[in-house]
Amino acid sequence: MSTVEVPINGERLIADLKRLREFGACGIGVVRTSLSPIDVESRHWLRGRFEEAGLDARIDGAGNVIGRSRNPGKAVLIGSHTDTQPTGGWLDGAMGVIYGLEVARALSEAPATKDRALDVASWLDEEGRFFGCFGSLSFVGETPAHALDALDTTDGTNLTLGDALHEAGLAGVAPERLDPNRHVAYLEAHIEQGPYLEEEGNRIGVVTSIVGARNFIVEFEGEQNHAGTTPMARRRDAAHAMVDFAHAVYREFPTAAGERSVWTIGEMTLEPNAMSIVPGKARLNLQFRDQDPTVLDRLEALSLDLLARANAGPCAATMRPRKHHSIPAPMDVNLRGHLERAAERHAPDQWTSMPSAAVHDAQILASHLPSAMLFVPSINGVSHAFEEDTSEEDIVLGCQVLATATASVLIATD
Ligand code: GLV
Ligand code: MN
Ligand code: MN
Repeated sequence: MSTVEVPINGERLIADLKRLREFGACGIGVVRTSLSPIDVESRHWLRGRFEEAGLDARIDGAGNVIGRSRNPGKAVLIGSHTDTQPTGGWLDGAMGVIYGLEVARALSEAPATKDRALDVASWLDEEGRFFGCFGSLSFVGETPAHALDALDTTDGTNLTLGDALHEAGLAGVAPERLDPNRHVAYLEAHIEQGPYLEEEGNRIGVVTSIVGARNFIVEFEGEQNHAGTTPMARRRDAAHAMVDFAHAVYREFPTAAGERSVWTIGEMTLEPNAMSIVPGKARLNLQFRDQDPTVLDRLEALSLDLLARANAGPCAATMRPRKHHSIPAPMDVNLRGHLERAAERHAPDQWTSMPSAAVHDAQILASHLPSAMLFVPSINGVSHAFEEDTSEEDIVLGCQVLATATASVLIATD
C-alpha cells in the first residue's frame, strides 16, 4: 500500500459536523427527515461546502447533493446520507458525508494526491421517510417507477415523494448517474450503531458484508362496533387479531432465525383508536434482517404461514412489502484490504472485521461498483436515538483511516 501522507484536519472536520448538527437540532439529537424544510436548507449549505472544497457541486433531481472533483481521471466516490430518523442522532449518515468533504479537502492539500479525483455524495432518504435509499437507487438507475408516489411514512399525511421534491424546487431537475468510465470504487464510513467495537475495545471496524432487510405492512380488517354492547363471541376485533399475530412472531421466529437474525415490530396502529370502540382496522410493520438471503426467505415463509393462521380467525389479514427490500451485500475484498491496511497503520491492533447489522447506501452501490465500508464505535451502542454519540478522538481517527485508504485506492488505480 502507498505510504503517502494525507493528513486530515480534525478541527475542521468536527466544526463542519457540529454545523450540520445545527440543522434540525433538538436537544442533543437531530430531527432532519428527508426533504423537510430544514433538510432542504442543510442540502444547500452542504452544496456550498462542497464548492468551497473545490468540488463542482449540485443538488440533483433525486435530492442528492453531489460534489464532483474537477480533476480528470478515474474517481473514487465517498457517500452516505444527511437525512435522519424522525428522532435521530447527529452522526448517523452525517458523519460519513462530512468525512467525504474532509477527505476531498485533505487529498487536494497533499502534494501526492492533489490531482486525484474524489466525488462526494449525500444520498437522499436513506432513512426511508418516503422510500428508503431513494437517492442512491436513483444514482445507479434502479428507482422503481412507483417510488415518486411513495407516501410520507412519518406523519400520516398524504405527501408523496414527488410532491416533496417539487416543493424543494427539484421537479424536472436531471438526476446524476453513476459513470462507469469514471467511478472505480465506492467507500462509506459510518458509526457502528451497535455495541461490538466498544465492548471489544476496538476503534475501527472494516465491514465484511451488509445485512439484508425486509419490511412488510400487515393489515387486519374486522368490524368496528360498540365496546359495551358487542358480545365477545360476536366481535371481529382487529386489535385482537393483530396482537395474536405479533405474539406468534415473537414466539415462532426463533425457530426459523439465524444466529444474528433480528426482527422488529416498530409500528402498530388501530383504527379508530378510541377507548370505547372495538377497532375495525389494525396495522403493524414487521421488519426482519439477516446476512443470509435463505434465512430471510425462511422468515418470510413463516410470516406468510402466520398470516394464513390469522386468516382462519374472524378478521381478514393481508401482508404487503413496504419500501425497498435491501439485499445482503458482501463488501469488495480488494477495497477491504485498503481499509484494513489503513486501519493497521493508524489504529494498530485496535481494529477488527465485522458485519453490518444496519442498512446502508453502500449496499445499493455494491451491485454496480466495488464498495466497502468502515465503522467507528458508538458509545453504549446507541443509535436511532437522540443519545447517539462517538468520541471526537474516534471520529477524527476514522476520517484519517478513510483518507489514507482513499489515497491508496486512487494511487492503485494507475
Ligand atoms: C438504517 O438506518 C437502518 O435502519 O439500518
Ligand atoms: Mn439510520
Ligand atoms: Mn445511516
